[in-house]
Amino acid sequence: MTTAGPKPAASAEEVEAAWNDNKLAQVLYHDWEASTYDEKWSISYDERCVDYARDRFTDVAGSEGWPYGKSLEIGAGTGFFTLNLKLAGVLAEAHVTDLSPGMVEAAKRNADTLGFAIEGKVADAEKLPYDDDTFDLVIGHAVIHHIPDVELAFREMLRVLKPGGRFVICGEPTRYGDYVARRLSRLTWWATTNVTKLPALSHWRRPQSELDESSRAAALEAVVDLHTFDPDTLVRMAERAGATGVRTVTEELLAAWVGWPIRTFEAAVPESKLGFGWRMFAYKSWLQLSKIDKVLSQVVPDELYYNVSITGVAP
Ligand SMILES: C[S@@+](CC[C@H](N)C(=O)[O-])C[C@H]1O[C@@H](n2cnc3c(N)ncnc32)[C@H](O)[C@@H]1O
Repeated sequence: MTTAGPKPAASAEEVEAAWNDNKLAQVLYHDWEASTYDEKWSISYDERCVDYARDRFTDVAGSEGWPYGKSLEIGAGTGFFTLNLKLAGVLAEAHVTDLSPGMVEAAKRNADTLGFAIEGKVADAEKLPYDDDTFDLVIGHAVIHHIPDVELAFREMLRVLKPGGRFVICGEPTRYGDYVARRLSRLTWWATTNVTKLPALSHWRRPQSELDESSRAAALEAVVDLHTFDPDTLVRMAERAGATGVRTVTEELLAAWVGWPIRTFEAAVPESKLGFGWRMFAYKSWLQLSKIDKVLSQVVPDELYYNVSITGVAP
């Protein structure tokens, strides 16, 4: 596994080696993504993302005991979850970790910009470099589906938590939700990249070299996305690792069916074609559909929703 320093791009040899070494694939892919990640996922550190992060957290773990004294994030990426939860007043002393050095650097830069002092370390969630009983809270967002041994990662989270400390992992793909989202995304990519071949729409086409790079990234993405989850199976896994009071919630049904094609469309056309108006339209559509999804959750089975969040407590 290579974790020496941030890498702007992977060489052909490294990509070849990554097919046989999943942790290397994770580092290459996420180092590669680090500098454009916030833009790709429309991540910001303002009311929009503060609300999003706080709502994901409270939906599964409530709002008691804020701020948590000392928190650790696994697979923190550019700091989206920790920094927005800190802005929301959910946590106080923040530590972030990630397997990708490029991501840890990006998270520290974002924290600096916000004026926050956070600790950042390159670390594998399967082997956390912290003593037992260190943290009041361990968090993660969109991370455990990248970890080969998820039960081992739960054991590590519980080990570094103080007794009674809580873990909160949000934004993981469910088996059915991921199946639908991937098919809708592939269809959107195919339709957009073919329709924009028409001469009248060629100004909506991204240069072929950029489309090729996106296709190569998508190939590596298939290597780094290791799991989808059934909520009940995830609960049993966390309990086997030793957690108590485990619960899950699922979110996004229509919001995911519309959100994934929108994100794919955004990736397939030139950035300059999509202004502030488009972004607000996309965000407001997502908000409205999320409200409908909450109502539908009275009748639609949990496992059909796209995102699963899980929380539990260290004994
Ligand atoms: C989809 S990104 C999510 C980043 C961030 N949590 C967010 O929501 O924006 C997944 C992150 O997990 C990291 N990752 C993958 N495998 C990991 C592991 N075994 N231990 C720690 N981090 C890992 C990747 O480097 C990447 O930054």
